[in-house]
Amino acid sequence: MGVTVVHDIIDHILVDQHALRQRVVELGQAISADYQGKDLVLVCVLKGGIVFLTDLMRQLTIPHEIDFMAISSYGGQRTESSGVVRIMMDLHANIAGRDVLLVEDIVDSGRTIDYLLRMLQAREPASLRVCTLLNKPSRRVVDVPLDYIGFDIPDEFVLGYGLDFDEKHRNLGFVGVLRQMDHVQG
Ligand code: IMP
Ligand code: MG
Repeated sequence: MGVTVVHDIIDHILVDQHALRQRVVELGQAISADYQGKDLVLVCVLKGGIVFLTDLMRQLTIPHEIDFMAISSYGGQRTESSGVVRIMMDLHANIAGRDVLLVEDIVDSGRTIDYLLRMLQAREPASLRVCTLLNKPSRRVVDVPLDYIGFDIPDEFVLGYGLDFDEKHRNLGFVGVLRQMDHVQG
């Protein structure tokens, strides 16, 4: 069994640690201002949103709760979501009448977030908005409203800072582009 090092996986760094930190600070300031006096619940979509959430929440200067949902997509390629979402773990909190901010790692086709927004909207929150670290506008299939965006990125498969390739490399401190490979991306 060979040893995999970061250079085998990453072609180049797309968003480095410094840029991530700077942008998360800015998003934290904007969200803190916008949700002043609100009953904010940050809903993190596991697993990809976890690193972003933990950094973002520490930049908030207003009281808030955090909660988690775990989902998985059926079918599709390894690097593409099918849009058929299965709830692996639901929220703990009742979000009715509360101000929900969905925290996502990346919006690609938009299918996942579209599904989640419909499902959460049915629970009648006072407000429901989306904060995504990364956005791939050129890949959009379903039109979804994004309220806070960290970075618009090109159509490349990325990993690190919570995002995985085959469930690994979420721990990388930067967002990098996956190296070459024979993987298929729709
Ligand atoms: P969508 O449903 O096509 O918008 O895909 C959203 C989900 O696909 C994200 O939450 C990620 O889990 C995954 N995904 C999409 N693009 C990437 C990528 O470039 N790297 C890692 N995961 C990705
Ligand atoms: Mg995700």
